[in-house]
Amino acid sequence: MLGTGYVGLVSGTCFADLGNKVFCLDKNNEKIKSLKLGISPIYEPGLDELIKKNYSVGRLIFTNNLKYAVSQSDLIFICVGTPTKKNSQKVDLSYVFKAVKEIAMSTKKKKIIITKSTVPVGTGDEIDKVLKKLRKKNIDVISNPEFLREGEAIRDFRFPDRIVIGSNKKKYFKIIKRLYQPLINKGAKFFTTSRRGAELIKYASNAFLATKITFINELANLCEKTNINVEDISLGMGSDNRIGGRFLRAGPAYGGSCFPKDTKGLVSTGDKYKIDLSIVKSVIKSNENRRKLHTERIKKILGSLKNKRIAFLGVTFKPNTDDMRDSTSLKMIPYLCKMGAKVNYYDPTGEKKEFKKLKNCHFKKNIKENCEGANLIILHTEWDEFKSIDFKKIKKNSKLKILDLRNLFNLNEMENKKIEYYSIGRPNLKKSQK
Ligand SMILES: NC(=O)c1ccc[n+]([C@@H]2O[C@H](COP(=O)([O-])OP(=O)(O)OC[C@H]3O[C@@H](n4cnc5c(N)ncnc54)[C@H](O)[C@@H]3O)[C@@H](O)[C@H]2O)c1
Repeated sequence: MLGTGYVGLVSGTCFADLGNKVFCLDKNNEKIKSLKLGISPIYEPGLDELIKKNYSVGRLIFTNNLKYAVSQSDLIFICVGTPTKKNSQKVDLSYVFKAVKEIAMSTKKKKIIITKSTVPVGTGDEIDKVLKKLRKKNIDVISNPEFLREGEAIRDFRFPDRIVIGSNKKKYFKIIKRLYQPLINKGAKFFTTSRRGAELIKYASNAFLATKITFINELANLCEKTNINVEDISLGMGSDNRIGGRFLRAGPAYGGSCFPKDTKGLVSTGDKYKIDLSIVKSVIKSNENRRKLHTERIKKILGSLKNKRIAFLGVTFKPNTDDMRDSTSLKMIPYLCKMGAKVNYYDPTGEKKEFKKLKNCHFKKNIKENCEGANLIILHTEWDEFKSIDFKKIKKNSKLKILDLRNLFNLNEMENKKIEYYSIGRPNLKKSQK
């Protein structure tokens, strides 16, 4: 696994757990050092135990020695990042091409490169060109996009809905099928297509899921104006098998390491081929506007932001991960601080380097300390430990205001506890009973 991040580490560890010998390679020495000590550099439920188990029996090897790892491996998975380029919607493929060149220069033997990184249509063809220039005829490239979700990554690896393999040479389907056979035996669909097809399936899937989220988020805006509960709409719509209920939960803007960059990446691929992907463009725009909607709402709830104390519960883009990439909190917290608010935050994965330089922003070690004295509590990420908070204990005798961006709490309960409670796309109970 070339790149031991969220994807490379999880899939490498899980491949080792299936009985393979896996070399997890990373240029980040700190990561490798920490992994050798049995400390995972990322927060992913169940991963630490699996790393320890496979490392101790020698099936999982952590290294920064590319030549060694490549020489020992038949299959080389590229799992490096493919972020968005600065000031552009295009995908930065520099890590991928650098990795390809490093692999090519380190071996004379026959190898198979498998791109697990999310790469735009035609990247496999571009890699072929690089290899041709380097006269590496014995290295082939196939595509195997990854669909795991952070926070549920081990389960997703073990029980994937489908395994997608893209290759222009049929002989490789058999080789990769053998690797994945234990998962196929448990019911995973093994789907083969052209290399370009596999590359596009990944972007199409992420753009579609982002569209579903954005669709229900916009309907939530309408529900707020019409006194309807958006959760009824999600249920009513989602019960139709053609639609399906997943990814129809209204909330903050979508974030994370994939949807924002992959929707942009797909649009830029469309532009390259002069195809107007207008739906995906609207999704990106709507999602960007959504962040502003939330800060406007906070201003309305608090009157003014100056010197107001705001407490964030959770700041990661979703629960069960420490990943902060493109989290809504990254836009909201700096803005609120800039407008004079005093922001505290608590997240189960600890303090975040992203907020360290903000003058009016402080990490608190627990929920109680975080919320005490707050003018507004914002539930940003739905970690399990927030589900049973007794807000009355946190702030006795005074008026409590909560903005729940995940619809985590029960409307009736909040009403009974006389908490000034705002959520997403749900009616004010008193209004709906009129
Ligand atoms: N994170 C997810 O949930 C997820 C899910 C599916 C697909 N993907 C895709 O998988 C890819 C990787 O994502 P990630 O979240 O794991 O990224 P990441 O940033 O967590 O990890 C990438 C790792 O690659 C290492 N690296 C970069 N260049 C290297 C090189 N030349 N040699 C050795 N190591 C190198 C970096 O040090 C880093 O540790 C991306 O294309 C992403 O879109 C991610």
